[in-house]
Amino acid sequence: LCEDYPGEETYPAGDFRVEWGPVFHRGRLDGSARVVVVGQDPAQHEVVTRRILVGAAGQRTQGFLAKLGIERSYVMVNAFLYSVYGQGGGERHDDDEAIAGYRNRWLDALLVGTQVEAVVALGRLADKAFRTWRDTPAGQQAQVAYQRITHPTAPESSSGGDLDRYDQAVAAMLENWNQGLERLRPAVRHPDVDRDLVPYGERLESADYAPIPERDLPAGLPVWMRSRAWADRKGASATLKRATIVVTVPRDARPWEP
Ligand code: URA
Repeated sequence: LCEDYPGEETYPAGDFRVEWGPVFHRGRLDGSARVVVVGQDPAQHEVVTRRILVGAAGQRTQGFLAKLGIERSYVMVNAFLYSVYGQGGGERHDDDEAIAGYRNRWLDALLVGTQVEAVVALGRLADKAFRTWRDTPAGQQAQVAYQRITHPTAPESSSGGDLDRYDQAVAAMLENWNQGLERLRPAVRHPDVDRDLVPYGERLESADYAPIPERDLPAGLPVWMRSRAWADRKGASATLKRATIVVTVPRDARPWEP
């Protein structure tokens, strides 16, 4: 799957940032996963680390899995192999057969005859991706619990920088996540850690962001790349912004500064 992946013929450069390359997955590919997470598309932190769901969305997702007692037995794939570019880029391609065909091969590999107990989809496009697979002959045989939850950065996307709207969107997302946790909990019969389910409150606390485990990332990546935000797209024009990712070492990770 990593040798033979679709390129610009399938993912048009007008709608996808194909120039940054495909980002395939994060987590276990050795059959030990109990939970599969389907995300949407990689953003800037993901194209730097070459693993999906690493930035804020990933750290929130990691916190969600931790509430289910899942700390290592998971694997994540996105609906799209490349970062979506521009408004509605993802929506325009949610039905593409070639995109779905390749993605379905990943879902076959992760879900057919494996020990996965539950699938979690993050948002509408991920939900569509999973349902498309579930309609295939292999998907129809699948015996896994399935839950769609609100995408972890939906509050940022929907609030347009308005703080009140952001707070309301976070509270709505966490209520949705609490319902998702209640439904998933009985399906995840083999958690890594047996812990009581502690629901979210109305706000995202720092404990709700779990750092990305070291084992999930290419060896030697600095510790600060596994938590917080450190990459941004910047550029004076749309074309320069698309061509540039600025990586900044966070203040408390600068050993040269007292
Ligand atoms: N990063 C990903 O890889 N997927 C998402 O859905 C969001 C951010």
